[in-house]
Amino acid sequence: MARILTGIQSSGRPHLGNLLGAIIPAIQLSKSEKNESLFFIADLHSFTTIRDPKELRDNTYATAAAWLAFGFDTSRNIFYRQSDVTQVCELSWYLNCFTPFPMLANSHSFKDKSNRLADVNSGLFTYPVLMAADILLYDANIVPVGKDQMQHLEITRDIAKSFNYKFPNSFIVPEIKIDKKVMIIPGTNGEKMSKSHNNTIDIFQSESILKKQIMSIKTDSTPMESKKNPEKCNVFKLYNLIADKEQANLLRNKYEQGNFGYGHAKQELFQLILTKFSIQREKYNALMSEKTILDKELKQGAMRAETIAKQVLARIRSKIGY
Ligand code: ADP
Ligand code: TRP
Repeated sequence: MARILTGIQSSGRPHLGNLLGAIIPAIQLSKSEKNESLFFIADLHSFTTIRDPKELRDNTYATAAAWLAFGFDTSRNIFYRQSDVTQVCELSWYLNCFTPFPMLANSHSFKDKSNRLADVNSGLFTYPVLMAADILLYDANIVPVGKDQMQHLEITRDIAKSFNYKFPNSFIVPEIKIDKKVMIIPGTNGEKMSKSHNNTIDIFQSESILKKQIMSIKTDSTPMESKKNPEKCNVFKLYNLIADKEQANLLRNKYEQGNFGYGHAKQELFQLILTKFSIQREKYNALMSEKTILDKELKQGAMRAETIAKQVLARIRSKIGY
């Protein structure tokens, strides 16, 4: 039995990049009888940038609703809010004392955030250490993430190995699992889709907002009549990731034949998202309008997660000498 663990930050509403890059592949993995999954909402990580309590709470609900709408089975897996299992903060401290300063200073995501944000707090700096604690606290074997999280996971593995070197058999060194097919999902401006880049497609939005987001995808200026290369177009890239093979081939042909504009392609992407995700959109809205189900699910998950967390933390405390 392998223990799969992954987290998703609640720093905004979950978008297509989160769904295709993390949520859908992780749920797929969780369906195997051989696996036990722990999925959590990383709301302590969100506190590095969010200071509004309502926003923090609402984002957590939106993220939880997305996981459940996509069919995560909480009866055989563990689904929880990071901040509900406070043992992670204690472990994070022990790991901090094992993390060389330059390893964090060289983190791409820290460099990126510290260039962009006005408030560069040390929570942003030690972000990967809290992430390592998230993983090591639960003896996780496999961590599925998007490609952008690769470096963070390498940091986790390095910290675990160096801790184990000093205190043998402390932690399981987790494997990183990146879905090669998905890679990095482009946002409406062609850069990585991200809550912090204002370029997301939110499939749970009303039809009119969703349409507006899709229509804003950046394309080149090839005229309508001309033949187009689908592989160079972000509209097609997104379509290809969602559609089945046959649908994707049909759209590819339209690009290659000409007399098919980017506006038409966007309309097809919009329709595909509405039909492909209609059940999920409905379920998401139902969960968001009645939050008691979300609260109940998260509370039950936290109790189960805490049982594991307490055992692992007791093991580490005794190794250290507390
Ligand atoms: P964001 O960049 O929007 O803040 P997160 O950092 O919260 O997203 O990412 C949550 C999960 O979704 C991670 O596993 C991450 O790798 C994945 N993910 C986020 N954006 C993308 C993307 N554009 N393409 C693929 N995966 C993504
Ligand atoms: N940093 C991750 C992200 O932004 C979220 C996260 C926090 C995570 N802790 C984790 C992912 C542990 C995997 C494992 O996507």
